[in-house]
Amino acid sequence: MELVEEQLHEFLRAERERWSAEQPRGCDLVTAIAELVAAGGKRIRPAFCVSGYLAAGGDPDDHRVVPAAAALELLHACALIHDDIMDGAAQRRGAPTVHHRHSALHRRLGRRGDHVRYGESVAILAGDLALVYADQLMATVPRVEAVWAQLRSELIVGQFADVLAAADFSADLETVRWVAVAKSGRYTIHRPLQLGATIAGRPDLAAAFEAYGTAVGEAFQLRDDLMDAFGDAAVTGKPDGLDFERHKMTLLLGLAMQRDPGIHDLLTPGPDSAGRLRRRLEETGVRRTVEQHIDQLVEQGCRTLADAPLAAAWHEELTAMAHRVAYRDR
Ligand code: IPE
Ligand code: IPE
Ligand code: MG
Ligand code: MG
Ligand code: MG
Repeated sequence: MELVEEQLHEFLRAERERWSAEQPRGCDLVTAIAELVAAGGKRIRPAFCVSGYLAAGGDPDDHRVVPAAAALELLHACALIHDDIMDGAAQRRGAPTVHHRHSALHRRLGRRGDHVRYGESVAILAGDLALVYADQLMATVPRVEAVWAQLRSELIVGQFADVLAAADFSADLETVRWVAVAKSGRYTIHRPLQLGATIAGRPDLAAAFEAYGTAVGEAFQLRDDLMDAFGDAAVTGKPDGLDFERHKMTLLLGLAMQRDPGIHDLLTPGPDSAGRLRRRLEETGVRRTVEQHIDQLVEQGCRTLADAPLAAAWHEELTAMAHRVAYRDR
């Protein structure tokens, strides 16, 4: 993981140098990506990719997995930058989001044109550039083309499904659960593990990693949804209560709509509407049901490891990782 950090920083440093030599104005987009990467992040996707590689018996002295893990973090940067435009979020990793920062800068400097459109334009392009960088790194890794194509297209279609579900505003729980896996669980856990195993030359682990990654990936996203509703923005580094404001069709909201006809009124912003909504989710047992769901998913995901051809130490490590992502507070 240290090598992954080095590669990320070295890659972005070289890109900055290249652009500042040619035309310093080109640097702003690279800087936006570099600042997001430097602002932290849990590096979950690189960690699952490296773990998939080592668990599959990949040689620890062969560093081919490093650019793949770094590429996953850059793809994630693209996803976050674009997600924050789509969700209208002002904060990410404890700092202003790319579109907010650049729209504020536009306004402060008294530049011409619409500052909101300007900020969003910068962020769309920064996200695109991060995606190209991810592809550039992944292109150096053998055997991964097919899985990488799946991972990227699933993320994009998953994000579309998220946007569409909010617009439909229908509490179809099967669809709601699918969206969580499609937009997040797959590119966060399932596919990174499979990428690692593929690099190690062990495609036979695909089924085990799919079963584990789908369950634990859904648990990861359900925890993210719970943190949006009940977490602390000072700890998560991103806004709280935003999913309700945007009518995001999470399992929390889907269950609440099925159980509690009064929930619609609480979604209309008003005095303490966020607090009242949170209390209602507790009273109606919706929060508890989602917690139970997470427990079941973690249990189910870890159980699938028992039949997988993995060394006992990796069985334990992946079990611990499942718990870390499902029961995190940031
Ligand atoms: C946030 O992912 C976006 C989702 C897919 C829910 P993380 O929770 O992994 O965010 P960072 O990378 O640690 O900031
Ligand atoms: C988005 O899920 C997942 C991706 C970035 C692809 P969210 O919209 O819930 O992620 P956060 O909460 O903004 O990090
Ligand atoms: Mg979001
Ligand atoms: Mg989103
Ligand atoms: Mg979220």
